[in-house]
Amino acid sequence: MASAPPVVEAKDLKRVYEIRRGFLRASDHLQAVGGVSFSVHAGKTLAVVGESGCGKSTLARMVSLIETPTSGQLYIKGVDAVNAPQEERLGLRKAVQLVFQNPYGSLNPRKKIGTILEAPMEINTTLTAAERASQACAMLARVGLRPEHYDRYPHMFSGGQRQRIAIARALMLNPALVVADEPVSALDVSIQAQVLNLLADLQQTMGLAYLFISHDLGVVRHIAHDVLVMYLGHAVEQGEKKALFAQPLHPYTQALLASTPGMAGSNAVKQRIVLKGELPSPLNPPTGCVFSTRCPHVSERCRAERPVLREVAGRQVACHYAENFLTA
Ligand SMILES: Nc1ncnc2c1ncn2[C@@H]1O[C@H](COP(=O)(O)OP(=O)(O)OP(=O)(O)O)[C@@H](O)[C@H]1O
Ligand code: SF4
Ligand SMILES: [Mg+2]
Repeated sequence: MASAPPVVEAKDLKRVYEIRRGFLRASDHLQAVGGVSFSVHAGKTLAVVGESGCGKSTLARMVSLIETPTSGQLYIKGVDAVNAPQEERLGLRKAVQLVFQNPYGSLNPRKKIGTILEAPMEINTTLTAAERASQACAMLARVGLRPEHYDRYPHMFSGGQRQRIAIARALMLNPALVVADEPVSALDVSIQAQVLNLLADLQQTMGLAYLFISHDLGVVRHIAHDVLVMYLGHAVEQGEKKALFAQPLHPYTQALLASTPGMAGSNAVKQRIVLKGELPSPLNPPTGCVFSTRCPHVSERCRAERPVLREVAGRQVACHYAENFLTA
């Protein structure tokens, strides 16, 4: 029997924004995502990490079919999502659901929780009102809320509970992939762990694939199976989480790990790299290696020649000297 295709597969996805500078002036081009490839299977989590502005949300919007890639291919459940006919695209949209960082902003304050949860079913299913209500109550229980919450409004909940509601809404149509863009970043650390545990439980019971966006490697460590590290729109290192945390091979991954509380003293971070200098503007990226303006190991070659993503020790790394960071 042939194995199932990945829930999502991206090949060299790019997104360029045209920035207009006013009438008669040539517009600039900002490359927010510069050719990223990955796949995620059912039941697995790919975490995308990197500093603010590195293109994480742009990638999330492309994978959720909200934004069309400038180039590259995107397959959802084996179907070409960019070129599929309109009707098929609508079906794929249901298969991919989003959870955002700010649950309060994404929940309509004037609607009761029951109404919020039932809205996707009203549009996309032929279920009766009673059936919809029963499914909404069942989902409330699944995310750790109670039946009496059905009639309450979003402002009556804590931040963590609101994020549970946003997760419940995302799951109402039984998606294959959940794209979560910084889903716990706005929550207290103690609440973060509860929501991460809930996501992990739901993944197991529903066989969900997650694209999990975060700037925090401490969070990623708890939830990811695979990790993709982005810098200025480019993947600089990607591979299996355990190996990447145990032995980061890109100097940027090393710096991120060194600045993550609880990780700085680990064996993996032999050399404490402190990120110096400003993140370059994506409108004017460095020639050669994207990390060359901040890398402690930079050489003339790095400034002249952009390293391509290549396989080193079982993962993908974009650094000319990745082998030098392998320890026996
Ligand atoms: N609609 C847009 N038009 C023009 N530029 C954009 C647009 N959306 C994003 N950008 C630019 O693309 C780059 C990537 O932005 P993006 O929001 O994807 O980053 P991010 O990694 O999600 O950042 P953060 O961690 O702050 O959420 C940034 O330089 C941003 O200014
Ligand atoms: S290619 Fe050079 S500048 Fe880029 S990460 Fe590697 S050592 Fe640093
Ligand atoms: Mg973002």
